[in-house]
Amino acid sequence: MSAWPTPPPYSLVGKHGVSPDFTHDERARFNFLAQLNTHLAAQVVPGNARAYETRVKPAFEAEHGRAPVDRHEVRKAMLRDSYFQTWSALRRSSMELRQQNGREVVLRQLDKLNAKAAALNHQSPQLKLNPDVAIPAYIRKVDFHCMPGGYTTELAADDVSAAANYDIGVFATTGGGLGCFNDGAGLAVAQWMRSRYPDFNPKRILDMGTGAGHTVTAIAQAFPDSEIISVDVAAPMLRFAHARAKSLGVNNITFMQANAENVPLPDADFDVVLTTIFLHETSNLAIRRIMAETHRLLKPGGLSFHLEQPQYAGLPLFEQFMRDWDALYNNEPFWTRMHEMDIEQLMADAGFQRDKMFQDKAEGILDETIFGKPKSDVEDFGRKAAWHLFGVHK
Ligand SMILES: C[S@@+](CC[C@H](N)C(=O)[O-])C[C@H]1O[C@@H](n2cnc3c(N)ncnc32)[C@H](O)[C@@H]1O
Repeated sequence: MSAWPTPPPYSLVGKHGVSPDFTHDERARFNFLAQLNTHLAAQVVPGNARAYETRVKPAFEAEHGRAPVDRHEVRKAMLRDSYFQTWSALRRSSMELRQQNGREVVLRQLDKLNAKAAALNHQSPQLKLNPDVAIPAYIRKVDFHCMPGGYTTELAADDVSAAANYDIGVFATTGGGLGCFNDGAGLAVAQWMRSRYPDFNPKRILDMGTGAGHTVTAIAQAFPDSEIISVDVAAPMLRFAHARAKSLGVNNITFMQANAENVPLPDADFDVVLTTIFLHETSNLAIRRIMAETHRLLKPGGLSFHLEQPQYAGLPLFEQFMRDWDALYNNEPFWTRMHEMDIEQLMADAGFQRDKMFQDKAEGILDETIFGKPKSDVEDFGRKAAWHLFGVHK
């Protein structure tokens, strides 16, 4: 029996002002994908480790007279294994199916969705779009996680399609693990900030890489007295994120089109500068510029942190190999390099002091409104899932 909670039905996904309508069949496809992804993660993934330990590694050792020395050797050996091939193909297919269903839902009602967003965005001073912002090639040219057109493609005036598609698929790919509003990372970050810094009430917070606004909106709800600026290069994401936040009654975020490598705001403007699930989608050069901007924009005494998957250094080789799957098969070209980086050196190069750096975990939160209360500790997968953070005090 799986220790993971069965995914809740798609009918429990939270509705907001830019939610599309679903037909029965569209919802059924996402239900199928949520079940498939949960089944793959809970029941099928562990078989890869068994295949490695019982078959692949012994065969490698017999051939080479030694164990694999890095994850590349693990990968080359695993690629020939039929169990890994089957799991990997299923996972890739589930990503492609998720995009097909998401795109179908959004594109058949695109005009309606764009109009809903436009009405919520109309003349808002908290949505600052700037068509002169150049989209970096590492964003413009990549269909991240098999998402056709990436984050920036615009199919019509006031387009929000990329973000609407991103938004509706998260529930299926995570089996509901991020909660009914896909904001589990934001809730985890807010809880982490409150527990680590109970007396800290930041006046101004900068979030870089808004996406659909899931995380920053939850942070804004947790810190209602903070003034938050959230920047993204992609206009469709910003239009959607702003409209979604407004419709959820969140009014303390200004969404701004800007490149995080060069944010048009004054030095020492923020008490907190943060990114979530973002840096791995930039580039080797961009991440250095973003760190330099973080240092420039942060007030002395301010806090900066970045939520990502853990760095590879120190992880077992097999885990490194499994974590690298997204780079190789899920259109995440900077993923490998990002997770190989010496992040302390990266922050030091940006001007931060080593003795003020930290790495930490933020505990995940299971949305009991859709999962119900866990019956036992082993069922508590959502809460136990930890988010990794690295950061620094200036
Ligand atoms: C994975 S999404 C971010 C997810 C979001 N932070 C969350 O927690 O839900 C990555 C976003 O970063 C944006 N992005 C990528 N490079 C950027 C850059 N240099 N400056 C600003 N935004 C960027 C993309 O357009 C995309 O919307």
